[in-house]
Amino acid sequence: LFAGPCDFVKGVTTMEALPPADRIEVCFAGRSNVGKSSLINALTGRKALARASNTPGRTQEINYFALGPSRYLVDLPGYGYAEAPKPIVERWQRLLKGYLAGRQTLRRAFVLIDTRHGVKSVDEEILTLLDRSAVTFQVVMTKADKVSQAEREAVLDQVRGALKKHPAAYPELVMTSSEKGMGIETLRTIVATLG
Ligand code: GTP
Ligand code: MG
Repeated sequence: LFAGPCDFVKGVTTMEALPPADRIEVCFAGRSNVGKSSLINALTGRKALARASNTPGRTQEINYFALGPSRYLVDLPGYGYAEAPKPIVERWQRLLKGYLAGRQTLRRAFVLIDTRHGVKSVDEEILTLLDRSAVTFQVVMTKADKVSQAEREAVLDQVRGALKKHPAAYPELVMTSSEKGMGIETLRTIVATLG
């Protein structure tokens, strides 16, 4: 599946503009700058399919990518970023929450957690929303290349602890580094085999 084409479809800023719900989709959610767009690029093997940037708040729309004929990858705006003007941040957050709670064809939400930081309270808010909406989510640890093995283990303990209170959590975590390619093949297999 990932050997074939993956093309940008559209960026949307309102629920009404979402593409027809005619195929399975998976989305990538997480705090601003956690590495959502970079992960989509790593998965698809394309350097700049999704626009990544050092500046938090880079992705401001819900971006749809068609992976093969029957799947969408969905890049979401980040949450927890307070630097942009308040009305704008509120608009993104409304859109993000509306999407996560109301998209029927959403098979799994990958929630990205920075391996240096673990689960924060803004993440908890999103995880709770996913529980309530009965959307299965799977945690993907990002930027694993930035921490030592010992630090990874400590953060993993914290994350596993935090997930215990979330019924919608898929039990297995995936440790990734978009920079080094770690965990990317595992994640491709998960996306490709979701029915
Ligand atoms: P927003 O769209 O602003 O919410 O951010 P995002 O979650 O899409 O993050 P993005 O992919 O734009 O990456 C943010 C920064 O982290 C960029 O400077 C990336 O190069 C860097 N980054 C992403 N993944 C990795 C990784 O695995 N390792 C390292 N070292 N840096 C990474
Ligand atoms: Mg982004």
